[in-house]
Amino acid sequence: MNSIAKKWILVVGARPNFMKVAPLIRAIDKHNHSCDSSLVTIHYLLVHTGQHYDANMSDAFFRDLKLPEPDLHLGVGSGNHGEQTGKVLIEFEKVLLKEQPDLLVVVGDVNSTLACSLAAVKLHIPVAHVEAGLRSFDRKMPEEINRLLTDAMSDYLFTPSPEGDENLAKEGIPPEKIFLVGDIMVDSLLFHLDQAKKTNILSRLGLSRATADLRVSDLRGSEALTSDLRGSDLCGSEVLVSDLRGSEALTSDLRPPTSDLCGSEALSFYALMTLHRPANVDDKNVLERIIRGLLEVSASLPILFPVHPRTAKQIKAFGMETSFEFHSSPDIKPEEYFEGKTLKKKIHCFDPLGYLDFLNLMSNATVVLTDSGGIQEETTVLNIPCITLRDTTERPITLTEGTNVLVHNDPEKIVAEARKVLDGQTRASRCPSLWDGRTAERIIAILAGHSTKKSRQDEQD
Ligand code: UD1
Repeated sequence: MNSIAKKWILVVGARPNFMKVAPLIRAIDKHNHSCDSSLVTIHYLLVHTGQHYDANMSDAFFRDLKLPEPDLHLGVGSGNHGEQTGKVLIEFEKVLLKEQPDLLVVVGDVNSTLACSLAAVKLHIPVAHVEAGLRSFDRKMPEEINRLLTDAMSDYLFTPSPEGDENLAKEGIPPEKIFLVGDIMVDSLLFHLDQAKKTNILSRLGLSRATADLRVSDLRGSEALTSDLRGSDLCGSEVLVSDLRGSEALTSDLRPPTSDLCGSEALSFYALMTLHRPANVDDKNVLERIIRGLLEVSASLPILFPVHPRTAKQIKAFGMETSFEFHSSPDIKPEEYFEGKTLKKKIHCFDPLGYLDFLNLMSNATVVLTDSGGIQEETTVLNIPCITLRDTTERPITLTEGTNVLVHNDPEKIVAEARKVLDGQTRASRCPSLWDGRTAERIIAILAGHSTKKSRQDEQD
């Protein structure tokens, strides 16, 4: 039996797309190299819309994830939602008309996902959506609109967890289009974790892995540390726990959980943060509320913030620079976290990091503060406490099975949840089923199987 050749287009546009497409490409290559000649052979084109274009928002991910150079780059860049979506639609339609692919594969929920799906469906090109069925039920989020519309247009809907299937069923999507395959981001995470742990980002930031590998809850059980925490001489200096307490309001219970915060040795406990949602950073009052909570936390735990360009712009526009310490590179000496013997009440910012550095930092963090979607899943897999600066999540499984908790923009909740982490009141996560690193293989097997079946049927007709 002869192998059938099929042409697919895979699309990437923005930062959270890259780690979702990389495992698909690996799985396609593996599929094509399998020696079963009855299988369909997949020729793919990788198209980058250019929604994200900065070196550290795009190129760094191609390098870290070993993605092939895009076959086509549409260079659409930034703009208002209508403008950006419209530009991708216009440019991508031209690509589809020229290339006439058999299938379009889109991932996630960014504007490029929606625009490319719309272009394809109008030309009767089947669409496969990876990460389908997620719903925050908040239609003010641009991503929610992108998710709803992309799912309504797609022919193959690959869901990461059972709530996705339920959401799609309620929206009337026929069950034969829905495939529960697991979380594609976890494929990338598991594939790269060992390599990520070898980057030098911890030492560049004046952090150490040694004790960071221990979870706070492990340490809480230890007599030695407990007595350290209650006021022993830290690192042989005169720094006492009470000295490290910044704010009375917050820190009556919140103790720095490490014994080496002496200002010259690497710090083994830190919070890692991401913050870029328009709902959080485009409104001055909201951003102020979040920063108020964060500054309280920063008195006990340094907050490291690879800052998204949107957020950097807003901090400047609102004149909020005094709450931040901007580092020109992620090279920070341990003493730079201190003012005298206390931690600075500042958020430490630097440019966005690549995939491997960020994964390394996340996997060693005491706690992660975020408004991102994917990070809620990644922390669940890594069993790192996650405080999400939103009031809804499209990934509720991270609340029920994982380490995630929602605090919205409420400074008191931010502080209370951080305190729980430092008190060891964290919940261990259970990794959801099918989050096993083999999601891409399942997707490619399903799509290739359907292609083969359809081609055989067409031959017979
Ligand atoms: C987009 C996604 C969001 C995702 C986020 C990850 C949509 C609707 N949103 O949001 O779901 O979580 O990416 O980053 O698609 N900018 C640069 N350089 C870049 C990219 C952006 O400076 O390489 C600046 C521009 O000023 C731009 C702003 O960031 O206007 C926002 O970029 P945009 O792509 O519109 O949305 P994100 O906020 O990044």
